[in-house]
Amino acid sequence: MYKAKAYSAAGETAPVASTTITRRDPTDHDVQIEILFCGICHSDLHQVRNEWKNVMPTVYPCVPGHEIVGRVTSVGKAVTKFKPGDLAGVGCMVDSDRTCPECQAGLEQFCPNSTLTYNMPDKHLGGVTYGGYSDSIVVDERFVLHIPANLNLAGAAPLLCAGITTYSPMRHWGVTKGKKVGVVGLGGLGHMAVKIAHALGAHVVVFTTSPNKKDDARRLGADEIIVSRNADEMQKHAGSFDFILDSVSAEHDINAFINMLRRDGNITLVGAPDKPLPVSVFGLIFKRRSVSGSPIGGIPETQEMLDFCGAHNLTADVEVIPIQKVNEAYERLLKSDVKYRFSIDMASLRA
Ligand SMILES: NC(=O)c1ccc[n+]([C@@H]2O[C@H](COP(=O)([O-])OP(=O)(O)OC[C@H]3O[C@@H](n4cnc5c(N)ncnc54)[C@H](OP(=O)(O)O)[C@@H]3O)[C@@H](O)[C@H]2O)c1
Ligand SMILES: [Zn+2]
Ligand SMILES: [Zn+2]
Repeated sequence: MYKAKAYSAAGETAPVASTTITRRDPTDHDVQIEILFCGICHSDLHQVRNEWKNVMPTVYPCVPGHEIVGRVTSVGKAVTKFKPGDLAGVGCMVDSDRTCPECQAGLEQFCPNSTLTYNMPDKHLGGVTYGGYSDSIVVDERFVLHIPANLNLAGAAPLLCAGITTYSPMRHWGVTKGKKVGVVGLGGLGHMAVKIAHALGAHVVVFTTSPNKKDDARRLGADEIIVSRNADEMQKHAGSFDFILDSVSAEHDINAFINMLRRDGNITLVGAPDKPLPVSVFGLIFKRRSVSGSPIGGIPETQEMLDFCGAHNLTADVEVIPIQKVNEAYERLLKSDVKYRFSIDMASLRA
């Protein structure tokens, strides 16, 4: 075991603050990574503040962070995929049982025994896992990803959650050229969804509550932008979408978006507000529409997404911050005041 620097929250109303944590020494199959950048996902904020207490209560102290990019510093003797000096990424999962049908299908995100990167029982050290707001992490090589060398590292970190969480449902629901795709909410996930849907060749429409994001949305790859609070603008598109990805982090009316779908259209919710969202059944019945959810993505698909982003030179638009500004960043995230992802420069933690 060794000591690592980190930032943790001591309770649901406590700020995230400097601390020291214990990491395991790399076992035979482990990769030790010096963390260079870690994105700030809205899930970090939900969890630090225990907003998901009914589903997955937060255990304190909580070290968030699951959009991790860094450099390998050492590897266990059985490791074959990585060597010291390689770039490496870690997303929302660090382990699973590897034997269940989901794992065998490469869908570790559905494994009943998966271990999330933070706030989950740590099989090695006891207690809970600690995430990427830290100077290093030790992860089994099966859950470590290769980062394409051409990508900017600060912007690549958010691909490990925002990238895969939007890529996976779009692939599952057949987003391709010729499809009309909506993205609800232009935040960290939403802006990656726009970039990826555009790269997949779809006609992309952004639904935003922030009229001041219109120019950005177009630059990111949107063909049309709708201010969702404008009923007339919404009405023009009723019944016309093949697929909509909803990335909103707070309570909102999803029926307005269900009505945007054509026959057999699907809306997938990736945003995770803590309260239930009412669904009008008639909106589903009339056009055989469906509502789904989707969690992150499996390890093979995460690598596929990273390679896709490498080939298309796609990264998140990031505002790089020192870790000392993380609490301020959370307040700004709540106000949708970031273009479009905070990425923590972990050199600030080492300094
Ligand atoms: N399913 C998964 O596996 C998964 C993975 C990662 C994150 N998540 C969840 O996805 C959600 C989004 O995460 P994020 O990091 O992208 O957050 P974010 O950067 O804060 O973006 C959320 C966006 O939602 C819109 N929004 C916020 N409050 C709203 C409201 N009251 N009404 C309507 N729209 C509102 C805003 O877009 P506009 O300004 O454009 O309206 C905002 O930019 C979070 O709940 C997060 O926990 C889920
Ligand atoms: Zn996330
Ligand atoms: Zn499994």
